[in-house]
Amino acid sequence: MRIAVAGGTGVVGRHVVESLRDAGHEAVVLSRSTGVDLTTGAGLDAALAGADAIVDTANLSTMSADEATRFFQTSTGNLVAAAERAGVGHVVLLSIVGIDRMPHDYYAGKLAQERVVETARVPWTIQRATQFHEFAAQLFDAAKVGPLHIAPRARVQPIAAREVGARLAALAAGAPQGRTTDLAGPREERLDEMVKAYARRTGHRGWMPALSLPGAQMKGMREGLALPGPDAVLGTQTFAAWLDEIG
Ligand SMILES: NC(=O)c1ccc[n+]([C@@H]2O[C@H](COP(=O)([O-])OP(=O)(O)OC[C@H]3O[C@@H](n4cnc5c(N)ncnc54)[C@H](OP(=O)(O)O)[C@@H]3O)[C@@H](O)[C@H]2O)c1
Repeated sequence: MRIAVAGGTGVVGRHVVESLRDAGHEAVVLSRSTGVDLTTGAGLDAALAGADAIVDTANLSTMSADEATRFFQTSTGNLVAAAERAGVGHVVLLSIVGIDRMPHDYYAGKLAQERVVETARVPWTIQRATQFHEFAAQLFDAAKVGPLHIAPRARVQPIAAREVGARLAALAAGAPQGRTTDLAGPREERLDEMVKAYARRTGHRGWMPALSLPGAQMKGMREGLALPGPDAVLGTQTFAAWLDEIG
């Protein structure tokens, strides 16, 4: 099958591409670095010619509800409109566990994105997953006060991006399912401890305070609202095993 991956150069998107190619599919990467801009629609029609399915893993890193909503409504709106024009039979969206329990900040944008897909004429699948192990690395880079790295407090049940990518690739090669069962990692972790462990493992020696960040989304995550329910499908690689793998 010919399957397009929006955000196919990103943290999880690159694993979707790898899994698709390993399974013998043709993966087409949609990102600005390959000449496709989802926010303007430039390059989309040409890239989707002959595609059987699309996986949407494009992303904007922001905690602003307005920015996130504008990005996800526009980018996914352009994607599904182009999918309809190209006769694509299936759109798979990656979303996040618990966003309806804390519809604030970045998660407001993800909820708006789910609504775009749910109301599309193209058959769809929405897979919600928990935070990635790689989220610790993304936060280490992004959560800073001046030169000081900080470790945000939250309850999470993280999963390896590689396992999420493999699941998305399998879904894209199959029939549309609507909403699927949540996907999560094997055990609950403390986000601040994950960020500190990642920092130590990658050679950072400075003091890192664990902080309760402001904002309704982070408050919800501290209260456990991003944790999966008992029916979630669980990945196998723990955060500790992932850390061992990266060095
Ligand atoms: N991080 C987590 O823990 C986590 C957990 C669950 C779900 N998710 C979801 O997973 C998805 C991917 O997150 P991620 O952290 O893997 O993303 P990421 O590493 O930030 O990658 C973002 C991707 O989107 C592309 N992109 C951004 N703006 C674009 C534009 N205007 N046009 C075309 N492509 C664009 C980027 O490529 P270019 O820069 O080349 O355009 C890149 O390939 C998001 O929907 C996120 O909500 C994340």
